[in-house]
Amino acid sequence: MVHVKSIISVLVSTLSLCASADFTTLPFYPAPSVPAAWPKIPTVPAWAVPSTDRHKPPHSPYRKQCKVKARGPGLDDIPNIIEAARKCNHGGRVILDEEYYAASPADLTFLEDVDLVLSGKITWNNDVQYWQNAGFFIPYQNQTSYWLIGGNNVNIYGGGEISGEGQTFYDAFASNATLLRPILLVIYGARGGSVSNIKLSDGPSWFNLLINSSNFIYDNLHMNAVSLSSNVAKNTDGIDIYRSDNIVFSNSVINNGDDCVSFKPNSTHIIVSNLACNGSHGISVGSLGQYENEIDIVENVYVSNISMSNAQNGARIKVWTGTAAGTSANYNGGDGAGIVRNITYDGMTVNNVDYAIQVTQCYGQSNLTFCAEHPSRMLIQDVLFENFSGTTSGKYKNITTSIVCSAPNLCTNLQADNIDVASPAKYGAGQSQCKNVDTTSLHVNCTASAA
Ligand SMILES: *[C@@H]1O[C@H](CO)[C@@H](O)[C@H](O)[C@H]1NC(C)=O
Ligand SMILES: *[C@@H]1O[C@H](CO)[C@@H](O)[C@H](O)[C@H]1NC(C)=O
Ligand SMILES: *[C@@H]1O[C@H](CO)[C@@H](O)[C@H](O)[C@H]1NC(C)=O
Ligand SMILES: *[C@@H]1O[C@H](CO)[C@@H](O)[C@H](O)[C@H]1NC(C)=O
Ligand SMILES: *[C@@H]1O[C@H](CO)[C@@H](O)[C@H](O)[C@H]1NC(C)=O
Ligand SMILES: *[C@@H]1O[C@H](CO)[C@@H](O)[C@H](O)[C@H]1NC(C)=O
Ligand SMILES: *[C@@H]1O[C@H](CO)[C@@H](O)[C@H](O)[C@H]1NC(C)=O
Ligand SMILES: *[C@@H]1O[C@H](CO)[C@@H](O)[C@H](O)[C@H]1NC(C)=O
Ligand SMILES: *[C@@H]1O[C@H](CO)[C@@H](O)[C@H](O)[C@H]1NC(C)=O
Ligand SMILES: *[C@@H]1O[C@H](CO)[C@@H](O)[C@H](O)[C@H]1NC(C)=O
Ligand SMILES: *[C@@H]1O[C@H](CO)[C@@H](O)[C@H](O)[C@H]1NC(C)=O
Repeated sequence: MVHVKSIISVLVSTLSLCASADFTTLPFYPAPSVPAAWPKIPTVPAWAVPSTDRHKPPHSPYRKQCKVKARGPGLDDIPNIIEAARKCNHGGRVILDEEYYAASPADLTFLEDVDLVLSGKITWNNDVQYWQNAGFFIPYQNQTSYWLIGGNNVNIYGGGEISGEGQTFYDAFASNATLLRPILLVIYGARGGSVSNIKLSDGPSWFNLLINSSNFIYDNLHMNAVSLSSNVAKNTDGIDIYRSDNIVFSNSVINNGDDCVSFKPNSTHIIVSNLACNGSHGISVGSLGQYENEIDIVENVYVSNISMSNAQNGARIKVWTGTAAGTSANYNGGDGAGIVRNITYDGMTVNNVDYAIQVTQCYGQSNLTFCAEHPSRMLIQDVLFENFSGTTSGKYKNITTSIVCSAPNLCTNLQADNIDVASPAKYGAGQSQCKNVDTTSLHVNCTASAA
C-alpha cells in the first residue's frame, strides 16, 4: 500500500511538473508502452547506400570543377574556399588538393548539389583569443564553430584531412572552463549528403556536430585527438547529433577524450555501426534534460558492432535530475523534460571499460540523495542491450554495469541479454547495480547495491 502510494505521488508530482505549456506539445509523454517485438535492422536502410555509391557526381559529368589554390604559408585560404564553393555550387565540385590554412570563419550553408573533394589538408588557425569572438556561436551548451556547412546534397570526401591543432586550446582550457573552443566540423541544416573518407585531427572541442539535418551519412572517418601536454584533450566528442533525423554513422575509428558518439536533444532514427572507439566516454544517449522548460527527445536509435576500448562506458544513457542545479561553471543543468525511447545496442566488445553499460538519471550530480529527492523528468523506455562481451577496467571492482533510475516509474521496459562481460579476475564475478528498474529482463546479475 505504501509502495503504491509512493508511486502515485511520484506520478502526480511528475505530471504536475510537466503541466506547463510545453507538455501539450509532447503527445506521447508520459504513457509508456511495451513494443510487441523488438525491431531488427540487419543492415543500414535503403537510403543509406554505401558511401562509394553515394559519391557519384550529382550531375554527370560535373558541370563545373573549381580547384582551390593555396595562397601560401600563413595566408588565410577561407576566402578562396568560399569563392570556389559559390562558383561550383549547383552541380559542381570543389577540389581541395593542397595544404590550406584556414584563419577566419566560413559560412557554407548555401550549398546545393556540390561535392567538396578534400584530398589535401585544411589546418585551422589555433589562436585561442581570436576564436573567442570570431566563430559561429551555437547556443546549445555554449559551443562555437569555425564554419557551418549545409544545404542540399552536400558531400565531403577525398582521403584528406582537417586539423584543428587543438593543443593551444587543451592547454588554455585547463585554466578556464568557460573558454570557447570551436567544433572542428559542423554540418548545419543539411538535407542529404555525407562526410566520408577523411581524417579529422586534434579538434579543440567536439570533432563533429550535426544540427537541423536529415538523411545524412558519416562513413569511413578517422578521428584522432591527442594532447602532448599534461592537459588532456577534453570534450573531444566524435560525433554529436542534435535536432536531426535519419542519420548514419559507420565504419570509423575514433580516438578521443569524450563521448565517441552522443545523441543530443532531438536525435531520431539513427544508425551507428562498425566503430572502433578508444579512450572515450562511450556511445551515449544524452546528456538530456539539461535545460528547464525544454523537451528533449531521442528515439529510434540502433547501435551495432562497436569495439570500445580504454573508455569510461560502453553503452550509456545519461539524463539530468528533475531540478536545475549545477556543480561547476559549465556543468549546470536539470529540470528538462522528455523521453528516451526505442534504443538498441546490439553487439559491443569492451576492453578496459569502467562500466559496460551505464544508465543514470542523476547526471551532473554526485549526491544520490539529492537526485532521489528530485526525480528526473526524462522518461527512459524500450531499451535493449544485447550481445556484449569483454572485460571491464576494474575501476568499480566487480561491478560491470550500473542501471540506476531516480524513481520506479521513470524507466520502463529495459532489457539486457547475452551480456558476457567480466570484471578483472582479481575482483571475482561481475555483478551490476540496478535501482528503481524492473530487473526481470535485465540479465546482468543485479546483485550489487546502489548507494
Ligand atoms: C553558457 O555559459 C554561461 C556563462 O558561463 C552560463 O551562464 C550559461 O548558463 C551557459 N549556457 C548554456 C546554455 O549552457
Ligand atoms: C575565460 O574565457 C571566457 C570566454 O572567452 C572569457 O570571457 C573569460 O574572461 C576567461 N576567463 C579568464 C580567467 O581568462
Ligand atoms: C534549426 O531549427 C530551429 C528549430 O526548429 C530553427 O529555429 C532554426 O531556424 C533552424 N535553423 C536552420 C538553419 O534550419
Ligand atoms: C564490425 O566492425 C568492424 C570494424 O570495427 C569491421 O571490421 C567488421 O567487419 C564489422 N562486422 C560486421 C559483421 O559488420
Ligand atoms: C587508446 O586510448 C588510450 C587511453 O586513452 C591511449 O593511451 C592509447 O594511446 C590509445 N590508442 C590509440 C591507438 O590511439
Ligand atoms: C525537440 O522536440 C520537441 C517536440 O517536438 C520540441 O518541443 C522541442 O522544442 C525540441 N527541442 C529542440 C532542442 O529542438
Ligand atoms: C525503433 O527504432 C528502429 C531503429 O531506428 C526503427 O527501425 C523501428 O521502426 C523503431 N520501432 C518503433 C516501434 O518505433
Ligand atoms: C545478438 O544475439 C542474438 C541472439 O541472442 C542474435 O540473434 C543476433 O544476431 C545477435 N546480434 C549480433 C549483432 O551478433
Ligand atoms: C545531498 O543532498 C541532500 C538532500 O538534498 C542534502 O541534505 C545533503 O546535504 C547533500 N549532501 C552533500 C554532501 O551535499
Ligand atoms: C563484489 O565485491 C564486493 C567487495 O568489493 C563483495 O562484497 C561482493 O561479495 C562481491 N560480489 C560478488 C558477487 O562476488
Ligand atoms: C554475471 O555472473 C556470471 C557468473 O558469475 C559472470 O560470468 C558474468 O560475467 C556476470 N555478468 C556481468 C554483466 O557482470
